[in-house]
Amino acid sequence: MVKVITYGTYDLFHEGHYRLLQRAKALGDYLIVGVTTESFDEARGKLNVVDSLMTRIENVKKTGFADEVIVEDHVGQKVEDIQKYDVDIFVLGSDWTGKFDYLKDFCEVRYLERTKGVSSTMKRASNNKIIRMGLIGSGRIARRFIPEAKYVSGMEFAGVFNPHIESAKKFAEEMDCEFYTDNEEEFYEHVDAVDVCVPHQFHYQYTKNALLHGKHVLCEKPITLNKAEAEELFKIAEEKGLILMEALKTAYTPGFIRLLSMVQSGIIGEIRDVESAFTRIMSERNTRELTDPVNGGSFTEFGSYTLLPIIKLLGKDYKSIRFECFKAENGIDLYAKAYFNYGSSMATAKTGVKVKSDGHLLISGTRGYIFVPAPWWKTTEFEICYEDFNQNEKFFTKYLGDGLRYELSDFVSTINGHPKGGFKLTRAESIAIAEVMEKFLSWRSSTPIEEGKVID
Ligand code: CTP
Repeated sequence: MVKVITYGTYDLFHEGHYRLLQRAKALGDYLIVGVTTESFDEARGKLNVVDSLMTRIENVKKTGFADEVIVEDHVGQKVEDIQKYDVDIFVLGSDWTGKFDYLKDFCEVRYLERTKGVSSTMKRASNNKIIRMGLIGSGRIARRFIPEAKYVSGMEFAGVFNPHIESAKKFAEEMDCEFYTDNEEEFYEHVDAVDVCVPHQFHYQYTKNALLHGKHVLCEKPITLNKAEAEELFKIAEEKGLILMEALKTAYTPGFIRLLSMVQSGIIGEIRDVESAFTRIMSERNTRELTDPVNGGSFTEFGSYTLLPIIKLLGKDYKSIRFECFKAENGIDLYAKAYFNYGSSMATAKTGVKVKSDGHLLISGTRGYIFVPAPWWKTTEFEICYEDFNQNEKFFTKYLGDGLRYELSDFVSTINGHPKGGFKLTRAESIAIAEVMEKFLSWRSSTPIEEGKVID
């Protein structure tokens, strides 16, 4: 019996896939088809796959050519499979010519002529029109979005708005944007969706304006600095049938999602404590984090990250919250801690702009703990540890580029009616984070400057 094996994503199943499978089957007696998982595709940079794994498997099965369907989820699996299934011929389309020649040590390798004029990428593009995104703001964060967007199909950064025309012009020229403007009305005429990348206190107004102009919004974190405004924005988005997402990048990254699902599966028992930290020493006196006495400081800057695992794992119904901080002369927090009491569990969020601490995440449970080393917000590895350390296990995940491609990809998919990211950061979670920000700022403004005081 001649055994043939082939692999693919088989997204939006098309004629090219069908013809490839048909010819692969004809090469032998038994055809094995490997279908990739979403996380494997993500890890190799293939974002925006539309169909679920089950749909893609079903579509392969429907052709009637596959005698067996397997799931491909890791690098190196092809070598394993070929040996395990005693495969004679490995087949792939001609777009891969040469890339799998190393498998010739294990079996015959053939590249079949690819069907011209069709691909999943083309189908994804033609099913949905390219989303023209516009940037509101042209600072540090905006700058990081442009290179990341190149990895996300179905969108383009068309232009930029900044009330200071010189900044908009400079940004557009450097980043090769199609247009720039200081006229907000004109800006909305040219885009389908916006990315709000301005200082915290302007998030609310720009997001609201964009929604009222019928645009989808990806808004930098924290979406707002108080609960009522966040609620209002999500309500407007819902009423208008628009997508509003908070750009808290960690929430959308494969490593963090994997970590959360493992904790939620009960692997470390009941969660009793979550400790998260994010500090970055800021030295220039002219950065808004250090100079804005109302909205600056470490907690508004980094608190969203540290609150994310707490709110995701323990929820928004904490019994009490209290804060401590060291303040600068202008009243901002240079180093801050938020303590949560959930009754049967507790949590601490720690941020700093003038104190450096280890940026790890530690989740402690009744059976073990999970340690995510710094920088945990770019999760690439974590360790599950038990009393019996022989049982400890390390996990590694991909975090590609600057990590913004994941949230952009989810934003685009959701606009196109394939919401894959809704659970990653829910409206209720974004609102809960905004509420903590509000509590912190209200506590900070009513607390003397000289010392880090504790209030309940
Ligand atoms: N294939 C083909 N002819 C096409 C498209 C794909 O023969 N027009 C083959 C590929 O070479 C591969 C298999 O079908 O052997 C599965 O490919 P997959 O990557 O799932 O499909 P693509 O359409 O190439 O997907 P994408 O555009 O996302 O890369």
